[in-house]
Amino acid sequence: MMDTSWFPDLLTTIERSGFGEWVRLTPHLYPILMSLHVVGIALLVGPAIAVDLRLLGVARNVVPVTVVTRYLLPISHVGFAVVALTGLTMFSGVALTVGMSAAAPWKLGLIILAGLNIAAFHGGIYRTVRQWDLATPTPIRAKIASVLSASTWTGVVFAGRFLAY
Ligand code: HEM
Repeated sequence: MMDTSWFPDLLTTIERSGFGEWVRLTPHLYPILMSLHVVGIALLVGPAIAVDLRLLGVARNVVPVTVVTRYLLPISHVGFAVVALTGLTMFSGVALTVGMSAAAPWKLGLIILAGLNIAAFHGGIYRTVRQWDLATPTPIRAKIASVLSASTWTGVVFAGRFLAY
């Protein structure tokens, strides 16, 4: 049987580090980080789902896919930077509780899945976007990527909320 006791030990070390104690004990810091985390989620998930809707055909005859991706995806990237920064900072203060939660592997796994889907979309079907930019149905592979994107990000939001309970 594999010895996995190092994992809770590692989480305890993170939580008891100077930085972890500072995060946990500084008045009002945790709720401020949590609020910024939620703002980051809005910046990340809102534009991502708007792109997904365009790929599914919303405003197909009016807005080119390349315009939607050019202007909305950079906002999603800022949102991801905000959630990663605030999330890792909160994590350092509550590493043991959050790290041992049943929702933690779901949240991490779904974030990885969302990232792989983005990489597969941009490295794959998106290379042919000029052929279906405007007033053309998007290819089925782009539609599948958009459904996967919207469902994985929604799943991360659910897993995030479950972390607290
Ligand atoms: C590097 C990535 C991330 C890390 C390390 C992280 C970490 C955390 C931590 C530590 C909490 C607090 C849990 C608690 O206090 O019990 C939290 C809450 C949450 N996270 Fe994240 N997170 C990350 C990314 C995301 C993303 C990408 C989303 C959504 C798309 C998300 C959605 C949520 C939600 C909905 C909550 C609960 C907010 C609330 O209760 O008001 N997180 N996260």
